[in-house]
Amino acid sequence: MRALITGISGFVGKHLANYLLSQGVEVFGTTSQGSLSMDPNIFTNNLSSEQNIINLLDEIQPDHIYHLAGQSNVKDSWDSKVSTFHTNVNLTINLLEAVRKSKVSDKVRIVTIGSSEEYGRVNDMTLPIDETVSLKPTNPYGISKASVSYFAKQYYEAYGLKVVHVRPFNHIGPGQKLGFVVTDFTSQIVNIEKGIANNIIRVGNLGAQRDFTDVRDIVRAYYLLLTTATTTYGEIYNVCSGVPITIESILEKLLAFSHQQIEVIVDPNKLRPIDIPLYIGTNNKIHQLTGWKPEIAIDTTLEDVLEFIRKK
Ligand code: GDD
Repeated sequence: MRALITGISGFVGKHLANYLLSQGVEVFGTTSQGSLSMDPNIFTNNLSSEQNIINLLDEIQPDHIYHLAGQSNVKDSWDSKVSTFHTNVNLTINLLEAVRKSKVSDKVRIVTIGSSEEYGRVNDMTLPIDETVSLKPTNPYGISKASVSYFAKQYYEAYGLKVVHVRPFNHIGPGQKLGFVVTDFTSQIVNIEKGIANNIIRVGNLGAQRDFTDVRDIVRAYYLLLTTATTTYGEIYNVCSGVPITIESILEKLLAFSHQQIEVIVDPNKLRPIDIPLYIGTNNKIHQLTGWKPEIAIDTTLEDVLEFIRKK
């Protein structure tokens, strides 16, 4: 079995590649980082060229495509609306269009990556959020991912492409970039531990509640969706734990693991124009189809992130 991962050098891409290799899958990838092009299975492929993608697909003949390439930072999307939309939406259209025109259009199974941010402003009556809840995204990132979900469905309905769209809720783990809450907190804590920063941590909105899942559980869900014979294409699946946790308790856990005396300061620059107070999803649909449920406890994930950043 051959898989193509777009965005293979990103946080989720690296974890997915490791997982697929452990399952005996032959892994290929695209990246925008030229330095990785020494690996013969990794292509510095510009997803903005439809013809490039067609050539790549015809050469590799993948059974599965995991379309991870994208701009995933909600806060940055407020400052980079056009490039967020271009990266997330236009490049997805290019990929789907290239698949349609390639030799693998009849057989390849594709997963497109959305987000819980597609749901946006949900009302309390609809919690936990299932896949039928209407989309009311509240930030440019959420709008871009909602658009991806409509294109995924359209390529299935109009052309019969085997596309399934996922809406992962917050995912965390070793290797995530700065700009996401757990790495932002952990890297400041580690700098304090190493004595290169004073004992102050700057944070954003601590009141929000989010539904966190370890990235290693998330990539297993993507694999199960594409390898389960009964997956219905054109459908959407939440990938989440179903357990809400406040950002404040994430901070408290990390501080407790570190045993440092640290003063917490709310930095207005880290606040967002709109920040939904509570996201909780239900994973019933994917669980019923594939048996998937998260296995890694949040405390394990946080300790793994702390260890990863300490060793950097
Ligand atoms: N990044 C960050 N940094 N967030 C902070 C901080 C901080 O210092 N302090 C508080 N927060 C709050 C944010 O305001 C938000 O309410 C919450 O922590 C989580 O922020 P992020 O980790 O940046 O994630 P996100 O919820 O905006 O988006 C993530 O989850 C989505 C799925 O729900 C990203 O991984 C998206 O790509 C993903 O689709």
